Amino acid sequence: MRTRRAALTAIASAASLALTLSACGQNSEGGSKDEGGSTKGATIGISMPTKSSERWIADGNNVVKDLESKGYKTQLVYGEDDPAKQVSQIENMITQGVKALIVAAIDNKSMNNVLQQAKDAKIPVISYDRLILGTENVDYYASFDNEKVGELQGDYIVNKLGLKSGKKGPFNIELFAGSNDDNNTRYFFQGAMNVLKPYIDKKQLVVKSGQTELTKVTTLRWDGATAQRRMDDILTKSYKSGKVDAVLSPYDGISIGIISALKSDGYGSKDKPLPVVTGQDAEVASVKSIIAGDQSMTVYKDTRELAKVASSMVDALLNGKKPETNDTETYDNQAKVVPAYLLEPVAVDKENYQKVVVDSGYIKAGDLK
Ligand code: GAL
Repeated sequence: MRTRRAALTAIASAASLALTLSACGQNSEGGSKDEGGSTKGATIGISMPTKSSERWIADGNNVVKDLESKGYKTQLVYGEDDPAKQVSQIENMITQGVKALIVAAIDNKSMNNVLQQAKDAKIPVISYDRLILGTENVDYYASFDNEKVGELQGDYIVNKLGLKSGKKGPFNIELFAGSNDDNNTRYFFQGAMNVLKPYIDKKQLVVKSGQTELTKVTTLRWDGATAQRRMDDILTKSYKSGKVDAVLSPYDGISIGIISALKSDGYGSKDKPLPVVTGQDAEVASVKSIIAGDQSMTVYKDTRELAKVASSMVDALLNGKKPETNDTETYDNQAKVVPAYLLEPVAVDKENYQKVVVDSGYIKAGDLK
C-alpha cells in the first residue's frame, strides 16, 4: 500500500513536471509518458462551445468536478460560439501539454487540423455531446441518444394533438431545427420526422410555410433571436388566416424565441391559445415557461451523467484501459464509426418536471420561483 502510494506520488510529480516543461515549450512531444502508465495529476483540456446557454456552463463545471475528483487537473475554455476561437484555444491547450481533450465542437467540421496536432502529440480526444466529423482523430463519443430526443419531441406533439386515432386535424405545424454545423441537428430532426412525417404525408399535419426540408429550417448557432425572426416571418407570410397548432423546436433557447414571436402575434389568449411547443435541455427559463403554461415540454438530458461518462472515458484511456461504450454502430463521423456511450433523454412537461428535474437535484426549486 505504502509502496503504491509512493509510486503514485512519484508519478504525479513526474506528470506535473512534464506539464511544466511542456508549458515552457520544452516538450514538443506533448508531455512524457509515466513509466507506470498512470497520468493522475495530469491536466485535461476541456473545450466547451458557449456560455450563452446555462447547460454548457453546467457541463464544463461538472466535467471539471469529476476529473478533479479522479485526481486530474483541468483547463476549461469556452469558445464563445466562434469556431476559429475554439480551434485556437484547443491549439493552446495542446501546446501546454494537456494529456487528453474533451471537446464539444461549435462547428463539427472545423477540427481536422487541430485534432491532427492532438494525434501527433498522442493526446486522446473525447467528442462531447456533439460528434466531430471528418477526422479519424476522435477516440470516443459521449452523448445522448440524439435520435430519441427528436422522437420524444415528435411523440409529444402527436399525443397532445391526439393524432393517433386518425380522426383529428388537420392541424398546422411549423418545424425548426438546430445549427447546421452541429451534427446533432440532423439526428434530432430525423428523430422528430420519423414520428411526424407520416402525419404530414396524410395531411393530418400541414406545414403552411412549406418549409419542411432540414436545409430550410435550421437555426445557426441555435440562436433564439434568429428563430424568433423566422417565426415572425412565417406568421406574417403564411398565417394571414388560420393559426399555428404546434411548433417543433429542438432546443429551449429556440423555443423561447418562437414563443416570443407567437405572443407578439397575439397568441397566448383564450381564443388564440399558444400552440404545442417542444424544447430540449430543461433550462431554467424553459421549465419556468412550462410551469406558466407557455412552452409545452422539454427534453431533459442529465448533463451531470454526461460529464461522468466523459471523465471516466478519459480516466480509462490514460490508464491503458478501454472506456465503456454502449453503441459502436450509429455514429459514423465520415472517417470512422466512433465508439460511443449514449445516455437516455427524458421528456418533461408540467406533469413530471417536479419529479424529474427538481427532485433529482438538477434544478433547485428556488430557481423556478
Ligand atoms: C446541441 C445539444 C443540445 C443543445 C444544443 C444547443 O448540440 O445536444 O442539447 O444544448 O446543442 O446548445
